[in-house]
Formats: sequence, structure tokens, C-alpha cells
Amino acid sequence: MRPLKIELNEISVNYGKIHALKNLNLTINEGDYIGIVGPNGGGKSTMMKSILGLIKPSKGKITYCGTSLKKSDIRMGYVPQISDINRMFPITVEEVVLSGRMSKEIRPFFKYSEEDKKAVEEVLDTVGLKKLKNRQINELSGGEFQKMIIARALTLKPDILLLDEPTAMVDVMSQRQIFSLIKKLSKDITIVLITHHVQMISKNVKKLIYLDRNIIAEGDPNQVYQYAYLRPVHQSIKKRVVGGAHV
Ligand SMILES: Nc1ncnc2c1ncn2[C@@H]1O[C@H](COP(=O)(O)OP(=O)(O)OP(=O)(O)O)[C@@H](O)[C@H]1O
Ligand SMILES: [Mg+2]
Repeated sequence: MRPLKIELNEISVNYGKIHALKNLNLTINEGDYIGIVGPNGGGKSTMMKSILGLIKPSKGKITYCGTSLKKSDIRMGYVPQISDINRMFPITVEEVVLSGRMSKEIRPFFKYSEEDKKAVEEVLDTVGLKKLKNRQINELSGGEFQKMIIARALTLKPDILLLDEPTAMVDVMSQRQIFSLIKKLSKDITIVLITHHVQMISKNVKKLIYLDRNIIAEGDPNQVYQYAYLRPVHQSIKKRVVGGAHV
């Protein structure tokens, strides 16, 4: 396979009157580990869903190694912001992760192969859940549950892993573990990670993007953090001081 390259060219996404993304340009290259941060409603999930082909942009084009998603042989793993799995469902960790091996086409008497089961063993080992494979999912902690969802996304050996706030609902200890797991994965897989944990992601990536309908700042994490998060604070402090001087 050619080196992975995904290019977003002047992408706009509208939901009725809401302009979620406007003329966005971004290139993802093989081996990248890109962090995406930004305000609520800034279009982060919309951008990820567009890359996955789940949303069709109103304007612009996305190419995958120079071609369409269908024609390219890029395999994408996805960890959605809100999991589609009901935590109370009576199912084991192994069964959930195995479901990642199921292809989208409907096969009436589908049976998992030995190869599928071996792939699941491997990813459970990677995420550190091997011992919990027979656990019911309602007996997992929040952090373990997220690791299981990441394992499921890894079962088809993706070239790129897209994660939408994988640490949103977990305790600080699990957040650290998940960031460290993703860092380890980034040595072999291209990664795009959306998060609100700006400081944690800044320690892990070379490239941070602050997205608010378009890319507002991009590059070295410290500089992006300074620009996107501290500058508005300085400005508001300045404003208040200026305001105070009039009193
Ligand atoms: N299916 C939809 N229908 C209508 N509007 C939508 C839909 N999905 C998202 N939006 C709107 O589009 C904008 C961008 O939403 P999006 O979910 O991409 O933001 P986000 O950056 O992921 O936010 P958050 O950090 O809260 O997850 C928001 O104003 C949101 O309300
Ligand atoms: Mg989102």
C-alpha cells in the first residue's frame, strides 16, 4: 500500500442553518499523531465523521491516497464520542471486541473464525484487558470499558485510528492509562484524537489543532495552547483592567 495520506480540501459542513465547518483544509500523513481541541460545538466530531465518510460535506472534497474512500484500501478504526453499546447488555468483553471483526455486509449464519478469535486475543493483550475477556461488560470500570472500545476499533488492523474524546467519562488514573496506551499505538498507527484534555494531549503530540469551524491554530502544542487558550484570557484581563481604569 502507498503511504497513507488523507486530504481535506475546502470542506464545509452545514446542518440546515448551522455551519459546523467552513472551508477546512487539513492533510493527515502516515505516522501522524494529531490532537484536535476546541470549544463545544466547534465541529470536531463533524470533521471526524466527514473523514470516516459518515457525513457528506456540503462543499469541498476529501481524498484518500489521491482517490475516493471506496477506491482506496485505507482501513479506518473509529472510537465514537458516544458508544453505541448499552452497558447493561448481557455480553462479554470478548464478544464486544469480536463484533469489530464483523464486516458490514449481512451474513445470516455468520460465525467467527479462529483467525478472528486470535486477532481479538492480540488486541485485548495490547490494551491490557486479556484477563477480563470473559467479564460481563456491566462489570467493567469506565476506563476498562473505554479500553474495550479501543480494542474493538483495532481488531481489523486499521491504518488510521480516529478517537473522539476517549477519556471524557473516565477518572484521572484511567485518563493517564488511555493516553499512554494511545501513545504506544501511535508508534505503529496514524492517529487523530479529539479531546478536551489539552494539557495531557500536549505532552503526547507534535501537532495540535485548535478547531472552531475552521483551523484557528495549528502546530507545536505549546504554541497552540498559548495562542488559543491563554490569549483570550490575556485579552479579557486587559479589557477588565482597561475597564477598571475608567472607574
Ligand atoms: N446531526 C446534527 N444535526 C444538527 N446539528 C448538528 C448535528 N450534529 C452536530 N450539529 C451541530 O453542529 C455543530 C458542531 O457539532 P460537533 O458535534 O461537530 O462539535 P464538537 O466540536 O464535536 O463539540 P463537542 O466538543 O461538544 O463534542 C454544533 O453547533 C452542533 O450543535
Ligand atoms: Mg464532539
